[in-house]
Amino acid sequence: MMGASEKIGLDPVYAGPVDETRTAIADILAGKKTGKDVVVRGWIHRTRSKGKLAFLVVRDATGTIQCTLKQGVVPDDQFTAAAAALMESSIALTGEVKEDPRAPGGFEIGAKEVQVVHAAEVFPIKEHQSTELLMDLRHLWVRSQEQRRIQRIKHHMLRAVRDWFHANGFTEVTPSVITTNAAEGGSDVFKFDYFGQEAYLSQTAQMYLEALIFAHEKVYSLTPSFRAEKSRTLRHLTEFNHLEAEMAWMGSEDNMKVQESLITYTAHTVARTCHEELTVLGRDPEDLLAIKAPFERLPYNDAVTFLNDNGFPDFKWGEDFGAPHERKLVEGRTQPVFITNFPKKIKAFYMKEDPDDARVVLCNDCLAPEGYGEIVGASEREVDIDEIVRKLKEEGATLANYEWYLDLRRYGSVRHSGFGLGLERLLLWFTKQEHVRDMTPFPRTTNRAYP
Ligand code: 4AD
Ligand code: MG
Repeated sequence: MMGASEKIGLDPVYAGPVDETRTAIADILAGKKTGKDVVVRGWIHRTRSKGKLAFLVVRDATGTIQCTLKQGVVPDDQFTAAAAALMESSIALTGEVKEDPRAPGGFEIGAKEVQVVHAAEVFPIKEHQSTELLMDLRHLWVRSQEQRRIQRIKHHMLRAVRDWFHANGFTEVTPSVITTNAAEGGSDVFKFDYFGQEAYLSQTAQMYLEALIFAHEKVYSLTPSFRAEKSRTLRHLTEFNHLEAEMAWMGSEDNMKVQESLITYTAHTVARTCHEELTVLGRDPEDLLAIKAPFERLPYNDAVTFLNDNGFPDFKWGEDFGAPHERKLVEGRTQPVFITNFPKKIKAFYMKEDPDDARVVLCNDCLAPEGYGEIVGASEREVDIDEIVRKLKEEGATLANYEWYLDLRRYGSVRHSGFGLGLERLLLWFTKQEHVRDMTPFPRTTNRAYP
């Protein structure tokens, strides 16, 4: 955990108005300050007072610690103000660190001085609140230990994926999320008026990434993607963070190698850096350390046979998998699995036909283990301009909107592949939680755009 005084090895560095005397609670809990006087700043997590004694559990960005206030030791006016301060009041406190096995975390601070920075009003979140209320009060609920841990893991996940791409020669690019193309299906798109022209919030950056491979060969981007899907499931957001990559000269098998390497590296890095957070959330870091490439490749054809033999006799070739099918396909697995070569009819226009079987395309989904479902959608891209035009017409698309995309097949077209990974889906699996909305601080779902 980053203490206030930790140096990050960069020069010049500005870590805020540096208060050298201020101690991060994590450093106290790590036993680095025992017997010493410290200054902590934070928020009152819990409070209890009993006559001449007050106990404040104080939270900063790094942890929580119990602080004991004794009237007489702490000046009277300060004691009175601190003992009366409500939960979530902000405070600054000076005191001596003591090791105490009875205190939560094993340490406590015997306060000498306390300043109430801001006396909070009655905090509207109590224990055991309904999900609805917590969603209405999301701007306050983001302070919860659960949310703090999840967002910290996400932070480390973001660092890991960026490190991986950088180390593997990818260039990070910044495509727009305002577009006139609905690449992933017209019905699920958020439409709006863009100065008199119809425009959409982007569902994918893919087509822009395809343009950028001609300059950089291997690119990736991290942008919000928007889906006006009516699906109210545990896995759907209307806005999610989409990590997408596109690679020139690569086919479908190379594409899967990139995905499994990225996912494995990210799982291992998160397991190593977020041991405490994962463990408290119920995920054994060993589960993530055990993730190992290569992942099994299971062709759609074989997946259908498997489903037919295992509880879904009526599942027909050509149908798309729903959550129950995905759960069955990963049952008993501890590793992700690639489902490859889906029927053309249920996949997007830009996917390349399998030269060995015209009914299917060269694509893969990646299913997470334990029933977390699809985390990646990927494919080799069609490079034949006539084939793309034919499919777009079939879908009734406005060809004029795709002229720029067709240009990519006119000027030095090359074999290429790419994928999109839903960050919140990956995080849901990593953290072993139930609902994808908890993977993002301000979730957008069909029934919510506030706060
Ligand atoms: O499978 P999808 O729709 O693929 C694409 O958009 C491709 N154009 C990506 C590409 O090749 N560049 O979406 C990719 C991933 C899914 O596997 C899932 O993890 C996530 O994006 N995703 C969602 N996550 C949360 N809520 C939703 N409504 C999601 N829709 C897709
Ligand atoms: Mg998909």
